[in-house]
Amino acid sequence: MKKIQISPSILSADFSQLGNEIKRLESGGADLIHVDVMDGHFVPNLTIGPPVIKALRNYTKLPFDVHLMISPVHKYIKDFANAGADIITIHPEATTNLASSIKHIKELKKKVGLSLNPDTELKVINDYLDQIDLVLIMSVYPGFGGQKFMPEVLSKIKEVKEIKKKKSYKFDIEVDGGINFSNYQSVIEAGANILVSGTTIFKENKGNLKKNIEILKTI
Ligand code: DX5
Ligand code: ZN
Repeated sequence: MKKIQISPSILSADFSQLGNEIKRLESGGADLIHVDVMDGHFVPNLTIGPPVIKALRNYTKLPFDVHLMISPVHKYIKDFANAGADIITIHPEATTNLASSIKHIKELKKKVGLSLNPDTELKVINDYLDQIDLVLIMSVYPGFGGQKFMPEVLSKIKEVKEIKKKKSYKFDIEVDGGINFSNYQSVIEAGANILVSGTTIFKENKGNLKKNIEILKTI
């Protein structure tokens, strides 16, 4: 079984202290940094873009797990790659040519993630599973932190895990949205090996990042 990795979402961090927050996450045992990019078009919220990612790049050596909730996404991929993204995850609905966007990310020597919204079926990305590094399964509708986990996605996580096993694919299974201390174990049991969390990590136990990350790694 792959080691469980934690990718805290900085969407729930103190935006006036993002550099220091990233340092606190690293010393708290985070494995990746989940950066939620929102454009107010693909999702009804606006966050950060390449200049902020560039400014944060030197605060940590941890991989930037960049979740692009933007559309059209293709023309911005290079900017995020140059800003310091290590994993670039896009939503299939956000590009007119998924194969070309995947190829573009690979040509930039970055890892490729594809994200499935709760109502996007796995078959939408079936043809690409052999060439990607990450499947990001949304357990909330994207746009905001602090939403309630949607348990109906557990069956989708199991479905992704099954096809990965059957075809010996290499991609990681990351789950994102509403993960807390009472549901994370069922998410891992369903097949996730990377957990994204914002609210639980930054708010539980009086914001004790190390303790909260440790708990999410304990099965
Ligand atoms: C939602 C983002 C998630 C979110 C996770 O659109 O993609 O990464 O920030 O935050 P919590 O853990 O608070 O649901
Ligand atoms: Zn996210």
